[in-house]
Amino acid sequence: MSDFLTIAGMPRQELLRLIAATRKNVPIAEGRSPNRTTLSGRVIANLFFEDSTRTRCSFETAVHRLGGQVFNLTPSGSSISKGESLVDTARNIECMGVAAIVVRCAVSGGAKMVADGVKCPVINAGDGRHEHPTQAILDVSTLMEEFGSVEGRTVAIVGDITNSRVARSVTHALSTLGAHVRLVGPPTLVSKSFERITQGPGIVSTINNLDSALDGVDAVMMLRVQFERAAGGAVSSDYRQMFGLTPQRIAKLASHVIILHPGPMNRGIEIDDRVADDPQRSRILRQVTHGVAARMAVLEMVLLETTSEKSPVTNSNSPAEHRIEV
Ligand code: ASP
Ligand code: CP
Repeated sequence: MSDFLTIAGMPRQELLRLIAATRKNVPIAEGRSPNRTTLSGRVIANLFFEDSTRTRCSFETAVHRLGGQVFNLTPSGSSISKGESLVDTARNIECMGVAAIVVRCAVSGGAKMVADGVKCPVINAGDGRHEHPTQAILDVSTLMEEFGSVEGRTVAIVGDITNSRVARSVTHALSTLGAHVRLVGPPTLVSKSFERITQGPGIVSTINNLDSALDGVDAVMMLRVQFERAAGGAVSSDYRQMFGLTPQRIAKLASHVIILHPGPMNRGIEIDDRVADDPQRSRILRQVTHGVAARMAVLEMVLLETTSEKSPVTNSNSPAEHRIEV
């Protein structure tokens, strides 16, 4: 029984095991293979303090596919709107006998705060600008479905890097597995500190010119400008021209290059319709299917690989990380 809070610090073998489990789950996620019953009799709580479509619904679907039951709590319609805290909410929910809590929140380090406040396992579904670890699993799984391995592959992640928990988690995962990561965007949205993420053989670099960053890539992951995290002030009116993935830009890419986006997309800003919907290159909806498979793998790892004490899967144990400056 463990928490699942970050990709940072996750050993390569553990990452590969989780991705292999994800890939095995894909036929179930597609509805082509029978569901399992491994979570039968268990109730999972989805505590979503920030909005979500893909992550919340795919955790729900994953629980259903594993024979468990799930309920959702969001600020609207709950006592969160009366000012009840993240941790108090989680403690009360735990007392209802839930097997695990999935949490999304605006506070960087908020998932760890919840994990330290309850005894049941906690899964981070995105905490502020910090991490989105299940997104990284599904992204790498999608890339490995395409390329077999990500080792030696070059992935450009483009857009609002500084505010992106997706970029942080995916960069940790890809560098652990030996891929080269180019973090691309205007200097206002690409923090050089990301270059320190390397936790494996991969190389992480930051680049402020999209056209040169696309040279020789195998995959391009576009990110949304996160206006809700005050990123709007950091972008200029020529953002699309400078950093948007347009049909003209993808026309220059090698034929094997694929396009990813975690969603939600801001069409016409970071990505044009003809790129998002490109039948040859876009894997954006494929990522969503891998999202169900990844969350199944994480739920089973957290709930079925039991030890008597709760022990974090990752090394994010320090109280100093409760509120994470990112
Ligand atoms: N859905 C992703 C997240 O929650 C990316 C985004 O919102 O732009 O981090
Ligand atoms: N990719 C992702 O986290 O999407 P949602 O914000 O819709 O969950």
